[in-house]
Amino acid sequence: MESLPNDARADVTILIIDDEKVILDLTSIILKNRGYKVLTALNARDGIRIIGESRPQLVLLDYMMPVMDGLTALKEIKRQFDDTYVVMFTGKGGEEIAVELMKAGASDYILKPFNNQDLAERIENVLKMREIELHNRELRAERERLLCEIEAWNLELEKRVQEKTDALQKAQSEIVQSEKLATLGYLSAGMAHEIRNPLNSIALFGQLIKSGTDDPEQQEYVDKILKEVDRIDGILRKLLDASKRPRYEISEVVVGTVIDKVLEAFSPQITRHDITVVKKFRHLPPAIPADPAEIEQIFTNLFLNAIHEMHDGGILGVDLDFDGQQIIIRVSDTGKGIPAEHQQNIFDPFFTTKGTSGSGLGLSVVLRIVKTYHGKIEVERSDAEGTTFCLRLPVG
Ligand SMILES: Nc1ncnc2c1ncn2[C@@H]1O[C@H](COP(=O)(O)OP(=O)(O)OP(=O)(O)O)[C@@H](O)[C@H]1O
Ligand SMILES: [Mg+2]
Repeated sequence: MESLPNDARADVTILIIDDEKVILDLTSIILKNRGYKVLTALNARDGIRIIGESRPQLVLLDYMMPVMDGLTALKEIKRQFDDTYVVMFTGKGGEEIAVELMKAGASDYILKPFNNQDLAERIENVLKMREIELHNRELRAERERLLCEIEAWNLELEKRVQEKTDALQKAQSEIVQSEKLATLGYLSAGMAHEIRNPLNSIALFGQLIKSGTDDPEQQEYVDKILKEVDRIDGILRKLLDASKRPRYEISEVVVGTVIDKVLEAFSPQITRHDITVVKKFRHLPPAIPADPAEIEQIFTNLFLNAIHEMHDGGILGVDLDFDGQQIIIRVSDTGKGIPAEHQQNIFDPFFTTKGTSGSGLGLSVVLRIVKTYHGKIEVERSDAEGTTFCLRLPVG
């Protein structure tokens, strides 16, 4: 192997630990002459202290020493200073000792008495091996670091793709939703017109029959007919509400006041069903230009649904907040929640789980109005403990 140039050796510090002063001095001279920086210690304890202070690249360590023997010292050095390589001096030969020393982390061992040339060559070899190994270790660490970085990037990418996918899905379902509303608007405007006129006639003729007969049985039948006509008319009205209609009566609406008004209107049901209203008005928002009837409609429909869920009592929460840009309203109940498989349908027109008692238009009306005001509504939470709708309306 090629020998190191002298100026490279000047950067190498070697510590010799030997309890025999003569050997210490002699080895020290040999190594200094070759250009190394040399430190010495007469026992292992001092030696380990010096390693801590000066971090030599190499230690020549005697095997047989009082205070702390060479093998113990070797293990201690390797434990504390991984970068410091150790070459052992041993007076005794024998494979067993050699194996034990190498196992404990020695890089080489030299039998005493040694010759100068052999010592120098062994030292150079160990130093070269050290350099290669440390370089390898650095490369491995770098590789590890790069792998971690790639992994982190992968995760980040996956996260971004997921975010974009979610956003896309949301946008898509919003499009579907507004298409449904648009279709509904188109259909309902036509239907209302077509159906309401004959309906009116039915009601009129019904009333005529009723006034023209004294038979209580017939009167009862007519009453039933008129009640059903009323029901159909109610559905048509809701249908019209769900569809787009021009806004009218725009005025400055104070949302908190509207909420209070609707709650007041519901107070008989609230009392009857033993419901507690927990109202939190945090930051009061400014008034917004809107049709008060429409804003009322939002809360009417949300409260109706909430109350419907709490026949045997519960808590109706109304939380009003303003973040400087948006009015944030949360309407919560302690009902049984919306099953996960229904959550994507509840805003669909005609989706209902209430059989004939529900038209399934309540939430689509809410959605239509919220959209008119460029707001957003979502089910923020729904589980066996209840449901929270979160509604955001921009101001201005
Ligand atoms: N707070 C709630 N808790 C549990 N389920 C709800 C709640 N609000 C709405 N839902 C579910 O969403 C469905 C649709 O609600 P939506 O208000 O649109 O129609 P509806 O209440 O069934 O009928 P309508 O309001 O027209 O009388 C309901 O049938 C119900 O299954
Ligand atoms: Mg409803």
